[in-house]
Parts: sequence; structure tokens; C-alpha cells
Amino acid sequence: MAAMPLLDPYKLGKFDLSHRIVMAPLTRCRSYGNVPQPHAIVYYSQRATKGGFLITEATGVSNTAHGYKDSPGVWSKEQVEAWKPIVSAVHAKGSLIFCQIWHAGRSSITDFQPNGQAPISSTDKPVPTQYLHDGNVQEYPAPRRLTTEEIPQIVNDFRLAARNAIDAGFDGVEIHGANGYLIEQFMKDSTNDRGDEYGGGIDNRCRFALEVVEAVAEEVGGHRVGMRLSPFLDLMDCWDSDPEALGLHMAAKLNELGILYCHMLEPRMVKVEGRYQIPHRLLPMRKAFRGTFMVAGGYDREEGNKVVAEGYADLVVYGRLFLANPDLPRRFEVGAALNKYNRLTFYTPDPVVGYTDYPFLETSNFTQDNLDL
Ligand SMILES: Cc1cc2nc3c(=O)[nH]c(=O)nc-3n(C[C@H](O)[C@H](O)[C@H](O)COP(=O)(O)O)c2cc1C
Repeated sequence: MAAMPLLDPYKLGKFDLSHRIVMAPLTRCRSYGNVPQPHAIVYYSQRATKGGFLITEATGVSNTAHGYKDSPGVWSKEQVEAWKPIVSAVHAKGSLIFCQIWHAGRSSITDFQPNGQAPISSTDKPVPTQYLHDGNVQEYPAPRRLTTEEIPQIVNDFRLAARNAIDAGFDGVEIHGANGYLIEQFMKDSTNDRGDEYGGGIDNRCRFALEVVEAVAEEVGGHRVGMRLSPFLDLMDCWDSDPEALGLHMAAKLNELGILYCHMLEPRMVKVEGRYQIPHRLLPMRKAFRGTFMVAGGYDREEGNKVVAEGYADLVVYGRLFLANPDLPRRFEVGAALNKYNRLTFYTPDPVVGYTDYPFLETSNFTQDNLDL
């Protein structure tokens, strides 16, 4: 183990990583018309390092999958072609890149759906009104509950998207099973009120998720597949009455399917002795899962080093800090101050501002960031 655990090399399946600081999937809403744009070449390659690992923003698996304006897709030929130069630029810097494949389910609005139709879900209960950080209010329409017979088609959309991602050059895919989107709508008992074999007990609620994983692993190989899960979160009013049982069930089933990694989101952090610390609630899942275990949610340099040193996680995934610090691994290495992130430009469409204009260390005059979670 190196003096700084986050900088210890790691073997991720057949991939050799030179450090453990992973870039989180981050929706940036700059893929006009759902097509990745050339400015994403700059954005992703700025954050690529030799032996690093990047995960793309949530990327739609079909034309019903999008929950935000201008999020990218990987379901059309045009999108696949548009991803290629982005992936190549990241590879040219020696980094891995996985595509996060996603279906928003009911966390979408009719404007983003073909022919203005209702979004699809496990349920017909809408997402309650959401109050956004920029002061705006988002209302959601009632979704259309998928029939049992329609579900294989959605599974197949994930399979095809995974194939397309590999054709675009990605090293693998991360299945988005977190944050209140379609897969989680099926998994959690607050949003799954189905009476068929996809609803009821935990086996049934996880059936759709596991069919997706199985199909994707069959298509591209389990060694190129990861899954993101957030059993303890309640985003978009999607929560489970027994999150630990859900997390453990999924960890055991993912072992059977032999995928590369399990990427879990921490429950909200707790303040201990005046600073936020990770509550370590994922330990049972870490112990149960036999592949690479990745953690995310509220980590800084100190907590990241700590969990790697303790063996609580193999890799630590950074979202907002990586968004605002294109050279985050370097800054961690030298203990440099961090740029502050600006929430107001997280999802704005500008191809530069708040996207590729965060300064690198050499040009930075910023001071240490305080996380305001
Ligand atoms: C601007 C923004 C966009 C995000 N987009 C995604 C996404 O596309 N997919 C996803 O799984 N999580 C997404 N997240 C969640 C992050 O991946 C991450 O889990 C979260 O920011 C907590 O980690 P952090 O404390 O290191 O930022 C997003 C978060 C932010 C701030």
C-alpha cells in the first residue's frame, strides 16, 4: 500500500489502474438533441489520466429513456459515431472509460418522450413535485405502467445500448440501477406496486434489474459490466423499507452473474466531531460482493484514503469534486487546494462555462472547497 492509499495501483479485472480516484457519472445536459458534442471531447479528456477510470454521464438506452433535456443517448447510429472521438481522446491519455447506460422511467416528462406520450415505469404513481436547487419546481406527469409483456423489450434496449457502447469504443458499461430511475423504480417497494412476477417480494422486484444485467453481460461479457446501486437513498421518492436486505440481495445475485464491479452510493453522511464522515453502512455489501467494490457520495481526499486503507472499498468515486477539478488526482497527490464547484452551471447548456473552464492547478487561484451537502 502506498503512503497515499488512493494512489495505490489496482487491477480492475483485466484493466490496470494506476490510482483509485474514479470520475463519477455526471449528467451535464450539453448533448444537444441527445447527441454527444465535440465539446465533450475536451471535457472528458481534461479529466483523463494515465491508468485512470472515468464513467460517463447517464446515457439513454432508447428514445423513451431520457429524463433531462440534452442528455446523451447511445441508441442511434449518430450517437454511436458521436461518442467515438470522445472515447478515443480519453484512450489517447491512457484512461479507461465506461458508458453509464440509463433509463429514467417515470423521472421524465412528456416533453422528452416520443409523441409527447407518458413516461414508462413499474407503476402509475407519479414522482411527487421536486424542488430543485436553482429554485425551480419540477412537476412530473403520471407515468404509464409497463405491461408484463413489454418488459423484455426494455431489457433488450439495455442490451443493444451496451453493444452500441462497445462499438463506440467504450471499455465497458455501467448499468444505472440507482437514484430513482427505472431500474430502481422496479427494485424498491415505494415505487413497485405490481401484481405480476416483477412485483411483490424482493426476488420479484429485482427480477427486471437482474434480467438487464444478465442480458448486458451476455452481450458484452461480464468482465466489461458494472452496476450502480443506491439502496439507502430516496431520490425521486424512490425508497425501500429494508435497504440493507435489498443491497445484500443484489450483491449476492451480481456475484452469480459474475460482473466486474458493484458501485454503491453511501447513505447521507453524518457530522462527527464537526466534520462529515462516511457512516460505513455499505460494509455488509462490500463483504458480500466478490468483485470490485466502488463507493461514492460525499467523499473527500481524507475519507477516500481512509476507506481504501481500511479495505472498505477498492475504488472511490468522486462527483462534484471531479466536475470542478479536472486534475483531481494530481491535486490529491500534492495536497493542493480545490476549485469550488458552481451548482448553477451543473446542467446549463453552455459548451464551455462551468464545463471545460474549471482551471487546472497551474492556473488556479482558488481556495479550499467546503462541501455544502
Ligand atoms: C451535476 C450532477 C450530475 C449527476 N449525474 C449523475 C448521473 O448521470 N448518473 C448518476 O448515477 N449519478 C449522477 N450524479 C450523482 C453523482 O454521480 C454522485 O453520486 C454524487 O454527486 C455524490 O458524489 P459526490 O459527493 O462525490 O459529488 C450527479 C450528480 C451531480 C452533482
